[in-house]
Amino acid sequence: MATVRLQTIFLILLAILSAWAAAKPSGSPSGSDVGSKKRLLLISFDGFRWDYDQDVDTPNLDRLAWDGVKAKYITPPMLTMTSPSHFTTITGRWVEDHEVVHNMMFNTKTNLKVPHKVTLRRSEWWDNGVLPLWITAQNQGLKTASFHYPGGGANYSGQAVNRAIVEESGHIDDNETEWRQNIDTVLSWFSEEDFDLVTLYYGEPDNVGHMRGPDHPDRKAIIRQIDRTVGYLRDGITRHMLNSTLNVIITSDHGMTTVKKRPLVDEIVLNKYLDLLKLASFEILDYGGFGILTPRPGKEQEVLEALAKAPNLTVYRKEDMPESFHLGRSQRMPPVVVIADLGFNLNSRFIVYVNKGDHGFHNGEMDMKMIFRAFGPDFKKNFLSEPFDSIHIYPLMCRLLDIRAEPNNGSLEHTADMLIGTHDGGSRMSPTSPMMLTFIFVFISTTML
Ligand SMILES: *[C@@H]1O[C@H](CO)[C@@H](O)[C@H](O)[C@H]1NC(C)=O
Ligand SMILES: *[C@@H]1O[C@H](CO)[C@@H](O)[C@H](O)[C@H]1NC(C)=O
Ligand SMILES: *[C@@H]1O[C@H](CO)[C@@H](O)[C@H](O)[C@H]1NC(C)=O
Ligand SMILES: *[C@@H]1O[C@H](CO)[C@@H](O)[C@H](O)[C@H]1NC(C)=O
Ligand SMILES: *[C@@H]1O[C@H](CO)[C@@H](O)[C@H](O)[C@H]1NC(C)=O
Ligand SMILES: [Zn+2]
Repeated sequence: MATVRLQTIFLILLAILSAWAAAKPSGSPSGSDVGSKKRLLLISFDGFRWDYDQDVDTPNLDRLAWDGVKAKYITPPMLTMTSPSHFTTITGRWVEDHEVVHNMMFNTKTNLKVPHKVTLRRSEWWDNGVLPLWITAQNQGLKTASFHYPGGGANYSGQAVNRAIVEESGHIDDNETEWRQNIDTVLSWFSEEDFDLVTLYYGEPDNVGHMRGPDHPDRKAIIRQIDRTVGYLRDGITRHMLNSTLNVIITSDHGMTTVKKRPLVDEIVLNKYLDLLKLASFEILDYGGFGILTPRPGKEQEVLEALAKAPNLTVYRKEDMPESFHLGRSQRMPPVVVIADLGFNLNSRFIVYVNKGDHGFHNGEMDMKMIFRAFGPDFKKNFLSEPFDSIHIYPLMCRLLDIRAEPNNGSLEHTADMLIGTHDGGSRMSPTSPMMLTFIFVFISTTML
């Protein structure tokens, strides 16, 4: 009698336990194989405009759309430039928060200007109190690496990315052999060295877009090269047997538009409208569609009025920029910001800028939008996503890696639908538990009798 009662209590306890376990929300993005560790590869092709694959034969990118997720396009943050936009992707924070407010590092007081490639090892430019995903993941026990990804070579609160390869100045952007080697390297980091997160960056098609323009046949050729590289990646994933554990996101940092030139338009030469030397103590103007300047003391109104008269651009006092730009709260941003109309470059004194294509324009312009593709065990197949802002990639990556995100400006709401088994985000009954309960019930009944 006593043994039967003990057994009953034990079984009731067991039933309670199993019911509790079944109701517990699943921490893993894919409930189907809890326990198998997922890894993430983020690849950025600089300046890959959203529609670059639409006039070129791209069998591998097309296959990704059937085998995974494709967004119609995605929108970079305002300040459609390489460093600011990449850092928004890896932090989930607006540019005004992460403070990487240009490709060049600058100091408005000393007039220091450091070119983009040189900033890649300058922590004081990147480390402004917002932690990028690498560091957050490392702090939660994951192993991360950056291959050429902007910001990967800096230290954050004294911490370095576990492994960082920083792009050298003068690096050749379009060497397909090297592209493949880099894929092999990164895949072996996952398969042989147990890395959890790797970010991989390519400087194309940005380079060709600038030099030849987005409509040039060379741009189509580089898209074909990217497509072959995506095919090489797919084969590599199978070869390294990462097939069921590796999620991949392929995206970019901004689009590209054709620079408008004479005789089609009159190019902007700002010194025609204001005496820059007399009125400004600091400026970065000859840099595509986005310009910044610091008026000399007492000259702010004069600068603003003069620029307001210049055609084909909009001038903003930092404080008066639309909230939607998410730039106005930046401490680093100089007091005056100039944004040219699509295709107009901001020249200060002479038209020295030889680029045929450029970016830096308003992120609402379709030419500034960029690609988003994703595939792997946690992504649905043949899923076409509506457009979203690139800021939302960050919480998606945290979900895929199953880590706690830092405070950020993104939301999973825009990407949750592309994942397998997270549609409700809530608790899920394990299919085994009703069976288990029945079994226990039957077992109790028979022993009690
Ligand atoms: C990062 O910190 C390490 C160790 O303190 C140091 O050796 C390295 O130079 C730093 N790197 C950068 C880019 O500041
Ligand atoms: C391209 O990359 C390969 C592999 O790194 C290298 O051997 C070759 O010299 C490079 N080609 C050029 C033109 O730089
Ligand atoms: C540029 O500004 C000029 C002068 O206001 C105007 O006539 C022209 O239409 C503008 N060009 C474009 C492409 O908006
Ligand atoms: C995984 O590998 C199998 C067999 O090689 C292949 O059919 C499948 O498409 C691969 N899946 C992914 C996500 O690459
Ligand atoms: C972005 O996120 C940060 C951190 O949570 C927050 O301080 C900031 O106010 C947010 N920005 C906006 C515009 O909501
Ligand atoms: Zn870029």
